[in-house]
Amino acid sequence: MYPASAAAGGCAARYRGAPVSATTAAHSRFTPPREARPEGRPAPVAPSIPYHGRTVTVRLATPGDLPGLHALGLAILADGRGQVTTLEHADDMVAHARRIEGYFGRPDDAAIFVAVDDEGIAGEGLVRRYQPALTRHAGVLSLGVHPRAQRRGYGRALVRAMCAWANGAGLRRLELFMRADNARARALYESEGFVHEGTRARFVRLPDGTEVDDLILVRFFA
Ligand SMILES: CC(C)(COP(=O)(O)OP(=O)(O)OC[C@H]1O[C@@H](n2cnc3c(N)ncnc32)[C@H](O)[C@@H]1OP(=O)(O)O)[C@@H](O)C(=O)NCCC(=O)NCCS
Repeated sequence: MYPASAAAGGCAARYRGAPVSATTAAHSRFTPPREARPEGRPAPVAPSIPYHGRTVTVRLATPGDLPGLHALGLAILADGRGQVTTLEHADDMVAHARRIEGYFGRPDDAAIFVAVDDEGIAGEGLVRRYQPALTRHAGVLSLGVHPRAQRRGYGRALVRAMCAWANGAGLRRLELFMRADNARARALYESEGFVHEGTRARFVRLPDGTEVDDLILVRFFA
């Protein structure tokens, strides 16, 4: 959600809101990417996602989800793990919300997926296409799951939905940024086909002075 690291980027495709299901027992292994499609062609529905015997559903966000997305963002910032923004800078969230609002009108350039539980929005995945003309084949994703709802498969379902969308949008390269001390995120991303590409050494400086590296992970599509 809130860029785990100061990343920037973008994505695209027409993902027309079919819910993405994540079901089953043992979570499935990484599914090889489908053949890349030219920009603008309809994206495939993301594959079913087995997750420890449960069914996890994510869907495209709508403008009506904005309040829930805001609440989710605050909860993730308050928790702090994996973040580079702190609650003291929650004002950034206003800018974040404005950006999100803008993405709803650009279905070929970005998609926001949400996971919903009984209490509301439980997770968000934002995938965007980079806009410069020579980088439109590349995009970036960000992800956040509410602390109340973690380890229930939402993160995996959101990653798969974003990858399916990116592949359908004709993206060749999908990247993300994450703090090196975020072991659970790394486990998730690597199990979904992302590989470590680079390190921004000492990019994050915690209040106690500890410096933490930041990693670039990437997944390529055909
Ligand atoms: C990282 C995060 C997105 C994972 O989402 P999640 O919904 O909890 O993850 P899932 O339940 O889908 O788990 C998927 C995989 O992630 C890894 N994982 C998740 N939580 C873990 C934990 N507490 N310990 C170790 N691995 C963990 C596992 O590999 C897991 O697969 P498994 O359950 O089959 O072993 C979530 O913890 C989160 O939002 N954290 C705060 C914000 C953040 O770090 N965002 C990512 C920034 S790049």
